[in-house]
Amino acid sequence: MKKRSGIIYLDNNATTPVAREVARVMTESLRTNFGNPSSSHYYGKRAKAAVERGRKQVANLINAKPEEIFFMSGGTEANNLAIIGTARRFKSGHIISSCIEHPSVTNPLKHLEGRGFSVTWLPVDKYGIVNAEDVEKSIRKNTILITIMHANNETGAIQPITKTGSIARRKGIAFHCDAAQSVGKIPVNVQRMKVDFLTLVSHKFYGPKGAGALYVKGNSGLNPILYGAAHEKGLRPGTENVAAIAGIGSACKLAGKEMNTRTGRLKLLADMLFRELRREIPGIKLNGHPARRLPNTINVSFPDISGSLLLERLRHDIAASTGSACHEGRHLPSPVLKAMGLSDAEALSALRLSLGRDNNERQIMKAAKAITAAYRAL
Ligand SMILES: Cc1ncc(COP(=O)(O)O)c(C=O)c1O
Repeated sequence: MKKRSGIIYLDNNATTPVAREVARVMTESLRTNFGNPSSSHYYGKRAKAAVERGRKQVANLINAKPEEIFFMSGGTEANNLAIIGTARRFKSGHIISSCIEHPSVTNPLKHLEGRGFSVTWLPVDKYGIVNAEDVEKSIRKNTILITIMHANNETGAIQPITKTGSIARRKGIAFHCDAAQSVGKIPVNVQRMKVDFLTLVSHKFYGPKGAGALYVKGNSGLNPILYGAAHEKGLRPGTENVAAIAGIGSACKLAGKEMNTRTGRLKLLADMLFRELRREIPGIKLNGHPARRLPNTINVSFPDISGSLLLERLRHDIAASTGSACHEGRHLPSPVLKAMGLSDAEALSALRLSLGRDNNERQIMKAAKAITAAYRAL
């Protein structure tokens, strides 16, 4: 996408622009579905119907039943509910996760570690992928939950979720998958993946921010983390954000319709960008698996430079992310890249370029030229 600023947007794993169709549905919903879905009059029923339509649309995209979808404020809340909600149910026990999870998974887990729960943090290989056999080997008698992400936000690396799901189901252990980055980009099927809980985040696939959902299989018991009235069957109390729910539903419908073309087109464009960069900058290195990766994501390390300096130089040309986290003005190497065995210098030289449905070939060629020129200038 080229915004009016002329800056090419290549940061779609951070967030995506709201699709025109989604914005239209939301605006209409804000105007006409103002009733409280809990009210029994005409306006309440209208709003309730919009919420239930949204629920069906989300369920359809991931092959779930509508009654298994619980709306919430986004991925952070959905991840917290799956993890803390399971811990509250069991009161003690052991949890298996990986060292490449998003902070909205690692921080609730660290919170639980401080309260007597134990956590196994599984390593990843050089491609940033967890080994499902490691999951099986880590299971203990008191394991209450396995939580592994579907696709990594920095590298796009796709994790062995179906294998892990089969192990979890065989052992009777609840399995949560943070699918914030995969839903809307690649097919996600909760039946095939054998998950008990799955997080999805609307603003990662052209829906509004502050909206997400947790899939909860059948009677997988979860305790709430918020207490209030009976909304969302008491699992997530609070008056529903009707327009956002209409938006997330509409984004799911759009994703279902576009899935094949979206995936194919993004892969072609991402491959083209990497090919151009590799031709011009021979030492660059792809961080992540060459194939088991989100079609839109390329994370690359550039020889002998700082990713943040490169991005700073490119600020009028492209919007993207570095592989580092900024703390008090200092750039620290990404823990995800470090877990894959990259040196500090390699991790600090990385850029994450994440493409979206609005990018086109011309923009990609222009971005490749701009990156090459900025790299040479540095
Ligand atoms: C993998 C992953 N999980 C969870 C989240 C959290 O989503 P939100 O910030 O919308 O709550 C993100 C957002 O960046 C993410 O990339």
